[in-house]
Amino acid sequence: MLLSLSNVTKSYETPEGPVEVLKGVDLLVSEGQSVALTGESGSGKSTLLHLASGLDRPESGVILVNGRDLTGLDEAGRALYRKNEVGLIFQQFNLIPSLNVEANIAFHAKLAGRHDVAWQSELVAQLGLGQLLNRYPEQLSGGQQQRVAIARTLAARPALVLADEPTGNLDEATGDAVLDLMLSLSRNAGSALLLVTHSMRLADKLDRKVLLRGGKIAA
Ligand SMILES: Nc1ncnc2c1ncn2[C@@H]1O[C@H](COP(=O)(O)OP(=O)(O)O)[C@@H](O)[C@H]1O
Ligand SMILES: [Mg+2]
Repeated sequence: MLLSLSNVTKSYETPEGPVEVLKGVDLLVSEGQSVALTGESGSGKSTLLHLASGLDRPESGVILVNGRDLTGLDEAGRALYRKNEVGLIFQQFNLIPSLNVEANIAFHAKLAGRHDVAWQSELVAQLGLGQLLNRYPEQLSGGQQQRVAIARTLAARPALVLADEPTGNLDEATGDAVLDLMLSLSRNAGSALLLVTHSMRLADKLDRKVLLRGGKIAA
């Protein structure tokens, strides 16, 4: 098993008191598998992705990646995990403003020691980024930034890609096309994919879909 969450809980402190968002989540993702994580707004999908990415820690429960317990790692260990094993595509894209598109795409792959010129060229071609390589993130539309973020993540061939509504601010036709591409490219890269979406239509394209409801995986 690539990713395994067992009985994971997470609450947040709010002015109204603690809010229990995840109440015992169990979820398995195997190598190379694509899983759609669905659920109503506020159900805790982004929270779950943050925990699986090592950006945040659960209160209790176990998160294993390749058999290693993420919750037992310190901040440096979790940073290494993000560098080497996991790729994140969040809604804010997190492109590096001072680097052009080409350097943004190469950045993580180089950091992880897995920069592959041929694979990067294929990603650039497939995602239609060839004309944009010398631009800076601020010179791109939202949809273009999104495609750069996808290329940047897949360039490093992470074992696991965590994507939070990556096509959420694209129109339906463009979103579908980008998701199809993302699926085929992540299969090419051998990456497993845990993708948050509230579109059942998009979720149906993945190997499996799960529903987060009432703080647990309902189906
Ligand atoms: N940093 C935070 N502090 C307090 N509450 C938060 C924080 N992040 C998320 N929440 C709350 O946790 C719940 C789940 O949020 P989130 O994981 O973003 O849901 P989703 O991604 O499914 O829309 C929401 O009620 C949200 O208001
Ligand atoms: Mg969210």
